[in-house]
Order: sequence, then C-alpha cells, then structure tokens
Amino acid sequence: MTVLVTGGAGYIGSHVVRLLVERGDEVLVVDDFSTGIENRVEDLPIVSLDLAASDAEDRLVAAIEEHSVDSIIHFAAKKQVGESVEQPLMYYRQNIGGLTNVLAAVERTGVESLVFSSSAATYGMPDVEMVAEDLDCRPINPYGETKLIGEWMIDNAITAAKMRGTAFKAVKLRYFNVAGAGWPELADTAVMNLIPIVLERVATGKAPIIFGDDYATPDGTCIRDYVHVKDLAEAHIASLDYMKSEEPAETVFNVGTGKGASVKEVIDAIAEATDREIVPEMGERRAGDPPALVADVSRISAQLSWKAEYGLTEIVRSAVDAAGMSSTGK
Ligand SMILES: NC(=O)c1ccc[n+]([C@@H]2O[C@H](COP(=O)([O-])OP(=O)(O)OC[C@H]3O[C@@H](n4cnc5c(N)ncnc54)[C@H](O)[C@@H]3O)[C@@H](O)[C@H]2O)c1
Repeated sequence: MTVLVTGGAGYIGSHVVRLLVERGDEVLVVDDFSTGIENRVEDLPIVSLDLAASDAEDRLVAAIEEHSVDSIIHFAAKKQVGESVEQPLMYYRQNIGGLTNVLAAVERTGVESLVFSSSAATYGMPDVEMVAEDLDCRPINPYGETKLIGEWMIDNAITAAKMRGTAFKAVKLRYFNVAGAGWPELADTAVMNLIPIVLERVATGKAPIIFGDDYATPDGTCIRDYVHVKDLAEAHIASLDYMKSEEPAETVFNVGTGKGASVKEVIDAIAEATDREIVPEMGERRAGDPPALVADVSRISAQLSWKAEYGLTEIVRSAVDAAGMSSTGK
C-alpha cells in the first residue's frame, strides 16, 4: 500500500507514519511545516506544500501519480480553538481549502481510500456525558465547524464517486483528547493541551491552574477522555484495513478510551510520574468547557475491532519521559 500522509510531520501524523513504515507500507509525506517538524520524517519522501495554496491540487495530483498512491490520511489542519475564534477565515481557508484540494486530487486520480482527522469538537457542548457518533453535532467554534463541514464534504465526495461508478471509501475519526508519546522524539512540542501545559508549568516552577472546580463532577473539575497517541495511530491503521476489506458500514468513529479522567486526576498522575508535589491554583471556569466529555467507543470497537490499550498512567508517563521529567528509577 502507498499512503500519502498530509501533515505527516505533525504530532499525530508522525506517529501514524512511523507505524505505516514499521509494517512495510510506502509513505509519502505532504506538509508545509507550519507546525510540523521535518526531522520527524526526514528519511521519507516529502512534498513541501501548503495544501490551501492555489497550485496545491495540481501538485497533489502529480505526487499521487508519481508515487502510485492508493490511500490518503489527511491530518494537515490548523487546530487551535482560540485562534479559530480570532481568525475564522484563516481556519476556513486552511482547513476547508486544504481538504477541497485533497478531494479534488482524489477525484482526478485513482485514490481509493481516505482517513480524515476529525474531532470531538464537532459535538460542541453536548448535555450527555458519554457521546455517541449519532448525537447531533453542534460545534461551538470555527475550528469545530471546519471539522464538521469537512465530514460533510467527504460524505458528498463518497456519494459523487458512487454516481460516477468510482471506488472511493472514507473514514472520519473523531479524536477525543490526544496525549502522550509513542516515541519520545515524536512527542507533542506544542504547549496547548492539559498535560503539556501542566508539565511546562511544573518545569518552570509555576503552579498549574485549574479552570473551575465547581462542576457537577465527583471532584468538581472537568472530565475528559484522554487517548494515547499511539493507540490513536493504531486506529488509523485499523481504518485503512477496514476500507481494504469491506464496504464501510459506518464512516464516522469516535476515538477515545470510553473512560474519563478529571483535571485533578491528570495532575495527580503527573505528580506521581514526576515524583513532585504539585499544588494547583484554582481559577475561574472558561467559557465553552462542558463538565464531562467521554467517548462512547462501542462503534469503533465493533466495526474496526479497535480498542485503546493504554490508560491515563501510561499516557502521562510517556509524556513525562519524553519531556525528560520522570523521577529517578521510574
Ligand atoms: N492533537 C489533538 O488533540 C487533536 C484532537 C482532535 C483532532 N486533531 C486533528 O488532528 C490533526 C493533526 O493534529 P496534530 O495534533 O498532529 O497537529 P500538528 O499541528 O502537530 O500537525 C499538523 C500538521 O499539518 C501541517 N499543516 C498544517 N496546515 C497545513 C497546510 N495548509 N498544508 C500542509 N501542511 C499543513 C503542519 O505543519 C503539521 O505538520 C489535525 O487535523 C487536528 O485538527 C488533533
């Protein structure tokens, strides 16, 4: 199989690239290195390209034909919620523009399958704790909207391909809270999610801040579903295999563990893994934070036979190790 991985130099993309190479697939990386790091994929063929650029469709077609690509995994996107509120058009231009070019290149070539990085941000602020895929999606920021619109675009492309009599299958994966590192050198270098933020605060001698401890959860802090990036990477491999073997019965899947951890529990796990006392500061609630968001993973488990192997302890330990902050002997 030859897989074109957009955003393959990014945090999640580079983990998937590593697994694909390990199992013997040919891999071509397309990335503009806006947030990606070249040495994560330096031994592979790379096309340096902004997917939203006006020449991107033609350059993608040329790369697909040159490398006989049969599958695409599309990670490349901007992903910061706050930035998407400040610069919505940039998010539409990048995330929707990039995907438009990818789908146009699929249409002009014989690419048979696509895996798309979607997000739990498509759900918005659901009033249920366990979120299943058929729940109404009501994203509350432009980032989440670009992911939901991306899913619709892919559904439309599947319908149009069927009408043309072309074989094209796609799977959209809605990631929950991705964390940890499968290999230390591929760790998340952006300090935007809870675990990297707490690690940075601890490393610089500052107290982490908990945004709200009066939610209706057992310890008052928000609950999220943390999934190990290596488990998430395996879900992409399972998606490719699923599309090889059958007509997908479903095309959208939650990727999480099905278990929630509170902010306090995550901080306690970091304290344990670093062998440091961490005393967080209490801050105000942030707008748009649902009290609990946990993936119902029954669909992915039934259809793709995928299940997360790692839990919070392994996730935190891998992130702490990658940051060089593990306590001696652990
Ligand atoms: N990290 C998470 O918790 C999370 C959760 C849900 C969904 N996602 C989605 O997963 C995907 C990967 O996220 P990540 O955490 O690895 O982010 P990342 O920023 O590390 O990776 C994104 C990669 O895409 C590249 N890129 C961005 N815009 C591009 C463009 N226009 N053209 C070509 N390359 C471009 C970047 O250089 C980078 O290598 C994104 O689509 C993101 O929205 C991530």
